[in-house]
Amino acid sequence: MKKRRKKGMPSFNVSMILVILSLLSFLSLTSAQAPIYRYHSCSNESTFTPNSTYQFSLNHLLFSLSSNATRESGFYNATAGQTPAATIYGLFLCRGDITTDACRDCVATATTEIVQQYCPVGKVAVIWYDDCMLRYSNRSFFSTMEEEPSYVLLNLRKLTEQDSFGKLVEATLNDLVPQAANAPSGVKKFATKEVSSMEFQTLYSLVQCTPDISSSDCNMCLRGAMTKLPKCCDGNQGTRGGRVLYPSCNLRYETNPFYQIQSVRTLSPTPTPMSRVTRSKGKIITIAIVVPIAVSLVLCAMIYYLLRRRARKKYNALPAENGASGITSIESLKFDLATIEAATHKFSDEQKLGGGGFGVVYKGILSNGQKIAVKRLLMNSEQGPDTKEFKNEVILAAKLHHRNLVRLLGFCIEGEEKILVYEFVPNKSLDYFLFDSKKQRLLDWSTRHKIIEGIARGILYLHEDSQLKVIHRDLKASNILLDEDMNPKISDFGVARIFGVDQTEGNTSTIVGTYGYMSPEYAMHGQFSVKSDVYSFGVLILEILSGNNSSSFDQSDTATDLLTSAWNHWISGTFLKLLDPSLRDSYSTNEVIRCIHIGLLCVQENPADRPTMASINLMLNSNTVTLSSPQKPVFFRHRKSEPNMP
Ligand SMILES: *[C@@H]1O[C@H](CO)[C@@H](O)[C@H](O)[C@H]1NC(C)=O
Ligand SMILES: *[C@@H]1O[C@H](CO)[C@@H](O)[C@H](O)[C@H]1NC(C)=O
Ligand SMILES: *[C@@H]1O[C@H](CO)[C@@H](O)[C@H](O)[C@H]1NC(C)=O
Ligand SMILES: *[C@@H]1O[C@H](CO)[C@@H](O)[C@H](O)[C@H]1NC(C)=O
Ligand SMILES: *[C@@H]1O[C@H](CO)[C@@H](O)[C@H](O)[C@H]1NC(C)=O
Repeated sequence: MKKRRKKGMPSFNVSMILVILSLLSFLSLTSAQAPIYRYHSCSNESTFTPNSTYQFSLNHLLFSLSSNATRESGFYNATAGQTPAATIYGLFLCRGDITTDACRDCVATATTEIVQQYCPVGKVAVIWYDDCMLRYSNRSFFSTMEEEPSYVLLNLRKLTEQDSFGKLVEATLNDLVPQAANAPSGVKKFATKEVSSMEFQTLYSLVQCTPDISSSDCNMCLRGAMTKLPKCCDGNQGTRGGRVLYPSCNLRYETNPFYQIQSVRTLSPTPTPMSRVTRSKGKIITIAIVVPIAVSLVLCAMIYYLLRRRARKKYNALPAENGASGITSIESLKFDLATIEAATHKFSDEQKLGGGGFGVVYKGILSNGQKIAVKRLLMNSEQGPDTKEFKNEVILAAKLHHRNLVRLLGFCIEGEEKILVYEFVPNKSLDYFLFDSKKQRLLDWSTRHKIIEGIARGILYLHEDSQLKVIHRDLKASNILLDEDMNPKISDFGVARIFGVDQTEGNTSTIVGTYGYMSPEYAMHGQFSVKSDVYSFGVLILEILSGNNSSSFDQSDTATDLLTSAWNHWISGTFLKLLDPSLRDSYSTNEVIRCIHIGLLCVQENPADRPTMASINLMLNSNTVTLSSPQKPVFFRHRKSEPNMP
């Protein structure tokens, strides 16, 4: 990156640039810019009386916070107050890239202004500046993920390449979310990325969570925040900049640099011209005050010239950028056959976890104690992809990281053996619990709802958020694994790709899927798309609600199947009769009805009528989105409840 920038340097007098740069960096050291206020929220219902013990606690808290604001972590939480009624909890979070001095300045400003200007008597407050966030409350909120109050700020200036820009924003943020969420403890939950492309300027993106929340909460928070951005790619809604501010996390993207690239990328010891200009942009105002206007005009002209030159150069230099980063090496994903045989006791029957499309799954333990699930693919040499293609697909699938997906750790390819190695998920699959009259009871309503939401997020990631669009094609209860906390993890994704079955939307003669979950157009005509997954998801929802297996119905011809019974209850308004009796009264009627409604929308005959996973996620997470009325699903006869193996 640095090298390219150097090449892209304008060819005018180098010493002149140095003068500008040294001047600017001097100014940036001497004149700190006042923190820029963005938004605040202040409780007007719960207030305290001036001069009360609460006020005393608050002052104490704000003092603790501001005196701890030079910490390297850019974050501090504190409590103050002697009595429970006067106890107050607070924290601040500085943007991950700023210096400790800038952090101190921002927190100092925030602690002063919040009580003097914005929230003199509120017990609960949060305030955002460009560089930091401060919040406090009379309620303990540490380690809790919170999305309210929230604030969304959009830069509505249009771009010509709206759709591809929207996609780039989504892809980039999706890349950043796991980086921030999975930061090891003690490291800031913070990530930034610059991406350039031929069509438009560089995209600068940033995500950050408060470090007190867990990785999964951080992930959830940021993914929630992403849904507040205008939906990508529906033509004219795009924006060239946006930010979402939540108490527990925030994200921002712009087409101009707004964070210090240099201090994030500690790799380059000498500053690039780029980041210098960046850093100083905000200081132009100061220059105008300090030095004569004529000089500042010259400076501005030069900076403009510099930027222009850079921008122009960029168009020539950019294509290398996209593919260059984050290549997962093949070596790191490769497992020896000997290792796998040792881990699985030579694929012994005791280690067998189950079969599935494309192969048999074994449990294994590596010599370091790590548990793995090993999928031994059934394919002969004429079938399936060649070795190179196989490896490429594995690398792509290994890059898919999401808390609701089973992680692919690697592969083994030796002789005839083709093996995929996955993370081991402890709690068996959803069907194990759902379709067993005793174990059903372990799934109460909130667990089931959580499972539905998790699956929806996982599929959304596969469909839209990951850089490669993955259609699962075999979503079913036995492909949903559950971890210790009953969080769902989708397994077996990308296998169709790895197996070499084409993945783009279209027609296929190789039908991979399970009857009962397959959409009519796929089962009958081999037509598949993301909407076939939506159909399967709808069936899953109805199964999760009813505790009935969609494909168990066709054992007897007289039984009406799951969709029929769901539809009939829908029409007659007897929603709750669909429910698994073991749920008793533990459910929320509204949530149940909403889930049935979504389920029925998903299983409509016409794929175009089915909602996208993005809208489904929205529907699941918000009660304010109104849903359309579902059409009656078609009831085609299932032939068999066996997966159709190619
Ligand atoms: C609190 O503020 C909100 C928004 O400013 C306003 O709608 C609400 O009526 C206020 N409540 C009270 C009790 O003043
Ligand atoms: C916070 O203060 C409000 C209003 O004074 C009060 O209703 C609420 O119970 C307090 N919350 C806690 C956790 O003390
Ligand atoms: C709060 O106390 C200070 C000194 O104890 C006093 O000067 C001030 O007037 C008091 N303010 C109010 C609102 O009572
Ligand atoms: C930091 O916070 C603690 C506890 O909140 C407080 O006792 C201390 O004075 C603060 N300041 C410094 C510099 O540690
Ligand atoms: C900060 O938050 C953690 C939980 O995230 C809590 O255990 C700790 O006590 C808090 N520190 C202070 C000084 O309140």
